[in-house]
Amino acid sequence: MTPHEISQLAELLKEAKKIACLTGAGMSTESGIPDFRSSTGIYNTLTSEDIFDINRFRRNPDDFYRFNSSFYTTLMDAQPNAGHLALARLESEFGKKVVVSTQNIDGLHQKANSSTVYEVHGTMRTLTCMKCRKHVSSDDYVQQLKEGKTLRCEACGAPYKPDITFFGEALPEEAYMKSLEAFEKADLVMVLGTSLKVYPAAALPSYRSTLAKFIIINRMETDADDDADLVIHDSIGEALTKALERL
Ligand code: OAD
Ligand code: ZN
Repeated sequence: MTPHEISQLAELLKEAKKIACLTGAGMSTESGIPDFRSSTGIYNTLTSEDIFDINRFRRNPDDFYRFNSSFYTTLMDAQPNAGHLALARLESEFGKKVVVSTQNIDGLHQKANSSTVYEVHGTMRTLTCMKCRKHVSSDDYVQQLKEGKTLRCEACGAPYKPDITFFGEALPEEAYMKSLEAFEKADLVMVLGTSLKVYPAAALPSYRSTLAKFIIINRMETDADDDADLVIHDSIGEALTKALERL
């Protein structure tokens, strides 16, 4: 990235009061979690998108739990990176109102102390029984999850499904509605580390007001690049950290 891009980023951040961010898997690659669609991403190397398909899960939950054992271990052990910390610092040090709508299920924005995080693809922290809807905490099943065992409800024997949003399921309503509101009200919208391929989350930035500024920081190009006031095809952690040094 060029010094000019960093000074533009700093300038846009300086002017902003209300910032709405949409983050994706690229936000967490610097924490050692692979993304999905890069050349090194999960869907290019380990498995295809249908691992997160609800109908496949219904037919065969064993595949899902087996595949996700190492992913769970990686997610649970991961720590926030410079990018997550920079977003939290925009609030704590620079007094910005920052809403983070994340497609990620790793909880790293919360670990970094961002105050307002909407998980539009749900969370891995809890699980719900497919049949009797019993609701439990993943913390009580860490060992089984790490071993790749299919988790089944103690009450009725049906599989537990993690409360993440599978393809074929609706998004968590409250998180999505609150995100919409934040994107409508923001004077700066930032897209960070998402290919913008998965709807409806990918549509959130398009709800911004015509007056709002629009920044994309993403290694690869996205279909929204042409609409942005600033596009940086580089590391989120580096870009935000360098820009914050100039605030
Ligand atoms: P993708 O893997 O589709 O996109 C991640 C983007 O982040 C890519 O375009 C990368 O170029 C970029 N990237 C990676 N590391 C970066 C870094 N350090 N700095 C800047 N950019 C970086 O992931 P998502 O868009 O999050 O859904 O995927 C959306 C949804 O698809 C996920 O929430 C998941 C997946 O299937 C479900 O499981 C329902
Ligand atoms: Zn049950």
